[in-house]
Amino acid sequence: MADQSLTIRQPDDWHVHLRDGAMLEAVAKSTARQFARAIVMPNLNPPITTVQAAQAYRERIRQAAGGGFTPLLTAYLTDSIDPAELERGFREGVFSACKLYPANATTNSAAGVTSLEAITAVIETLERIGMPLLIHGEVTDAEIDIFDREAVFIERQLAPLLERHPGLKVVLEHITTADSVDFVAAGPANLAATITPHHLHINRNAMFRGGLRPDFYCLPVAKRELHRIALRSAATSGNPKFFLGTDSAPHPRNAKESACGCAGIFCAPFAIESYATVFEQEGALDKLEGFASEFGPRFYGLPQNQGTIRLSREPQLIPERLHLSGVELVPFHAGENLPWRLQP
Ligand code: NCD
Ligand code: ZN
Repeated sequence: MADQSLTIRQPDDWHVHLRDGAMLEAVAKSTARQFARAIVMPNLNPPITTVQAAQAYRERIRQAAGGGFTPLLTAYLTDSIDPAELERGFREGVFSACKLYPANATTNSAAGVTSLEAITAVIETLERIGMPLLIHGEVTDAEIDIFDREAVFIERQLAPLLERHPGLKVVLEHITTADSVDFVAAGPANLAATITPHHLHINRNAMFRGGLRPDFYCLPVAKRELHRIALRSAATSGNPKFFLGTDSAPHPRNAKESACGCAGIFCAPFAIESYATVFEQEGALDKLEGFASEFGPRFYGLPQNQGTIRLSREPQLIPERLHLSGVELVPFHAGENLPWRLQP
């Protein structure tokens, strides 16, 4: 009989959207309940582009999340951002990384970077000081099929970028394709990737099962089954280039379930249970701790957490909706049973 409980070093989330205001109040504790630290995305409105804004945001997150949780802030790159501001923020321990959104690739990315050439001075600074560049890896050209945008980004932008800047530390965020798995696995040690729980569970059919299902729409969009299989094998392989990043991206239910629904899946509340389910299905529960708790800090050059969490093999029915501080949200796995439960 399988073990009935699993204890691992406390994990971190290397990619999460905690938002601000009422939504931050609603979602922060879902992340803090499981993760000791999280790399927090800067795509607020307006985006986080200064050290001062990041410090103030960090304080709001600490207030909302409660004690015992460390938010790690990121800077939102724009065409005109000052590399000296990034360097100062990094040296002062306010910015842990920079986030590159190609302009208009996703939610709140209108102020993003219009071309990598526009930020050459920034990239040179990051390479020199060892500050990680976190990339939303999709081209934005309307003529490129949405399901091909990640693969085309690698070919046209990422591969040449790494050739020009061999010392640049890059995380290709929330990868969704076999192309990304292969590219990252074959790349140098300064190239890594995060993988979300939802891209391990669903393929693109999920968005159309029995009708249009906005709760399974996120960016990069889920791809064909062959890609999901490649992601599952990368995540559970024990290769330290692949680590946990939920990309939990909450939007209120009415903003998801509308004629033009927002991209983003709110996977934070049961994230570690969701990952554990995949690792168990793959016969790789022994690889969960590396993926969730060890490879991320190793890449970022941070110490590993000393605490542990315990999961028990105890089915839990995931609620259809959550009402958190007055915000209505649909969690990933709504209405499904997950076989694991995080112990308080
Ligand atoms: C994210 C969001 O809502 O901020 N949405 C998403 O679908 N993942 C932005 C992003 O990470 O692309
Ligand atoms: Zn994201």
